[in-house]
Amino acid sequence: MAVHRGEFNSRLGFILAAAGSAVGLGNIWKFPFEVGAGGGAAFVVMYLIFCFLLCFPVMVAEIAIGRKTRRNPVGAFKALKTPNWSFIGKLGILSGFLILSFYNVVAAWAFGFFIEMLVGNFAIGSEFGNFIKDWLKVGIFGLLFMSMTAYIVSHGVQRGIERAAKFLMPSLIIIMVVLLIYSLSLEGAIDGLRFYLIPDFSKINGQVIYSALGQAFFSLSLGMGALITYGSYLNKNQDIVGSAVMITLMDVGIAFLAGLMLFPLVFSQGIEPNGGAGLVFVTLPGVFENLGPNMGVVVGSLFFLLLSFAALTSTVSLLEVPVSYVVDEHKVPRTRAVWLTAGLIFVIGIPSLLSQGANGFFSNFIEIIGLAREGMTDYSFLEFIQWVANDTFLPFGGMMISIYAAYIWKKENLTEELAHGNKNYAGSNMEKFINFAITYLAPSVLAVIFVLTVLNRFFGIDSIA
Ligand code: TRP
Repeated sequence: MAVHRGEFNSRLGFILAAAGSAVGLGNIWKFPFEVGAGGGAAFVVMYLIFCFLLCFPVMVAEIAIGRKTRRNPVGAFKALKTPNWSFIGKLGILSGFLILSFYNVVAAWAFGFFIEMLVGNFAIGSEFGNFIKDWLKVGIFGLLFMSMTAYIVSHGVQRGIERAAKFLMPSLIIIMVVLLIYSLSLEGAIDGLRFYLIPDFSKINGQVIYSALGQAFFSLSLGMGALITYGSYLNKNQDIVGSAVMITLMDVGIAFLAGLMLFPLVFSQGIEPNGGAGLVFVTLPGVFENLGPNMGVVVGSLFFLLLSFAALTSTVSLLEVPVSYVVDEHKVPRTRAVWLTAGLIFVIGIPSLLSQGANGFFSNFIEIIGLAREGMTDYSFLEFIQWVANDTFLPFGGMMISIYAAYIWKKENLTEELAHGNKNYAGSNMEKFINFAITYLAPSVLAVIFVLTVLNRFFGIDSIA
C-alpha cells in the first residue's frame, strides 16, 4: 500500500478518539428520549445488558480486524483474502451515510441552541417545535457543522481529533455533574429517579428491545466499521481489549449520567418523558433560565457548546469511514474525497432537515407509508432513517462481524492479534468470554432480534407483545 497511513500517537490518543466517536448526541440527546419512550428503567437494563454482553465483544473484533489489516472496512476483508465478505464494509458505508445525514441535522439543533443560549433566549425550549421547522436556519447551521467535520477529517484523524478530545470530554463530564447536583435538589426529583432507576419489567416489549439494541450499537459506534477504521491507525503494542473496556465504560457511563441528570429535571418540570426527540432541548433551557440571567447564559451556552463538540468528534468518525474507503480503494486524494463525500451526505440529509415539525415535508412519513404504531409520537423521516440504519443495519453488521471473526477469520487469529499488547490475553477468562460471545451469543441473539425487528419495523408485525 503506497498511501501513507497515520497512527495514533499514544494509547490515550486512540482511546480518546474512539471514545470521542462513541460519546455524542447518542448519549445526551438520543439515550434519554429512548429511555423516556421505552418506559424508563426497564429500557436502561436492556441497554446495559446489550452493551456489555453483545456490543463489547463486537467492538474488540472490529478494532482487531482494523489493526490486523490496516485498511478501511471494505479493504479489510479483501486484505484477509475473503473479498466476498467486503459486503459488510459496504453496508457499513451505507449506514454511515444514512446516520451522518440525520445526525448532522440534530448537531445543527445543538449548535443552534448554543447560539440561542448565548443571547439568553431561554424561551426557545418551549418553542422547540418551531425552531426545528425553520429549515433555512437549521440548514445553515447544518452546512456549517458539516464543513467543520470535513475540515477536521481532511487534516487526518490523528491530528484532528486526538487533541480536541483530550480536554472536551472532561469538560462535558464536569458540567453534567454540576447539572446533576442541581437537578437532585429540585422538588419532584425523586419521581424522576424512580422512573429512571427502578425497572418495571412489564414495560419490556418488542419496541423496547429493538430500540435498546439499536441504541447500544449506535451509542458505541459499532456495526458499520467505524472502529475497523480507527483500529487501522492503532499500533501493535497497544492493548485492544483494555482500550475497548475503557471506551465502553466511558460511553455507557456518560449516557447513564445524562439520564441521571435529565429525568429529575423532566419530572420536576412536569414534562412528558415520552415526548420524543425534543426531550433534552425542551427540558434544559428552562433549567438554565432558573439559574439566573448571567449564570444561565454561561452554563447554558457552555453546555450546548460542549454538546456540539461531542457531536463533532462523532461526525468526524462517521465521515472518516467512507473517506478512508475512497482514499484507500479508489486512490482519490484525501481532500477531494472529504469534500465530495461531505457534500453528498449533506444533500442526503435534506429530507431529514425538511421533515421536522408538524407541517414539515415528510413529517408524517412513517404514517404515510403505513408503519405508524400505537403510542408513537414521532412520525418523521428522521425517525424512519433511525429505524433503518440504527435499529436494523448496525445490529446486522455487528452480527456479521461476529460471525466473520469467529468462523471465517477464526478465533485463533483473533486471539493472536489481541495478544499483541496484552501478554496475558491468551488463555484468560476474557478470551473465553469474547470467544463465546462472538461464536454463539452474538450470532444467535442478534439473528433472532434482527428478524423480529424487520418484521416489526417494516411489516408491522408485533411478534413480542
Ligand atoms: N456513537 C455516536 C453517538 O453516540 C454516533 C456515532 C459516531 C456512530 N460514529 C458512529 C454510530 C458509527 C454508529 C456508527 O453519538
